[in-house]
Amino acid sequence: MRIALLGGTAGQGFGLALRFCKAGMDVIIGSRSVERALEAAKNVRAKLGNNVKVEGMLNENAAKVADVVFLTIPLVGLVPILKAVANDVIGKVVVSVIVPLEAETIGGAVRPVRLWSGSVAELVAERLKDSKVVSAFQNVAVEALLDLEKPVECDVLVFSDHEDAKQLVMQLAQKIDGVRAIDGGPLRNSRYAEEFTSLLIFLDKRYSVKFSGLRFTGIKI
Ligand SMILES: NC(=O)c1ccc[n+]([C@@H]2O[C@H](COP(=O)([O-])OP(=O)(O)OC[C@H]3O[C@@H](n4cnc5c(N)ncnc54)[C@H](OP(=O)(O)O)[C@@H]3O)[C@@H](O)[C@H]2O)c1
Repeated sequence: MRIALLGGTAGQGFGLALRFCKAGMDVIIGSRSVERALEAAKNVRAKLGNNVKVEGMLNENAAKVADVVFLTIPLVGLVPILKAVANDVIGKVVVSVIVPLEAETIGGAVRPVRLWSGSVAELVAERLKDSKVVSAFQNVAVEALLDLEKPVECDVLVFSDHEDAKQLVMQLAQKIDGVRAIDGGPLRNSRYAEEFTSLLIFLDKRYSVKFSGLRFTGIKI
């Protein structure tokens, strides 16, 4: 199974690329620039060795050849990417990690942006009616993903209206050292995880930590 991370050249997508490669998965880093994609793949090999399965290519090509496509770009770039890849992701699992933040749309505060669709994930599902849209990873900070010396130590909420796709993404998440995947139910519940990230960013500042994360008690898996 091939996993593409559109916008995987930096931040959350690059962190996930590292973690998925470390877990032995077949990863494609997508970008608007083939040079940046190749450079990011080279950086993954530099960190994990030449045996890891990683390639770099344009977002559109990555979406074409992958089985599971992660959207790891800021919200402001979402709609053009969805238009560009819509036909290539028909029938595929598409995972949104996107947090709707003012900072990532109009600049400024890290407050949540309210969307008419209810959440970014639901917006994606409205636009990609023939894909299996899943929402996950909004509450895992990039710093936790990049620190390969340590397990991620977070619960990852996973939401979807497609049970098989949700189970698949939960399995992928659990391949990351320290992650416990939690079934968050239907896609409409994604709004809670998406909004919660603003609070986590606030807590990082309040407690002067690099990243805070979620662990649910009372759930035995
Ligand atoms: N950072 C975190 O800790 C964190 C945690 C949870 C969720 N997220 C979510 O993950 C997503 C990525 O966040 P990030 O911090 O990783 O962002 P980022 O570093 O600003 O962007 C990641 C990549 O997205 C591509 N990109 C940037 N602007 C774009 C645009 N307008 N259109 C298309 N592609 C664009 C760029 O790749 P190319 O230039 O190579 O195309 C860039 O390297 C966001 O939606 C964010 O809310 C982030």
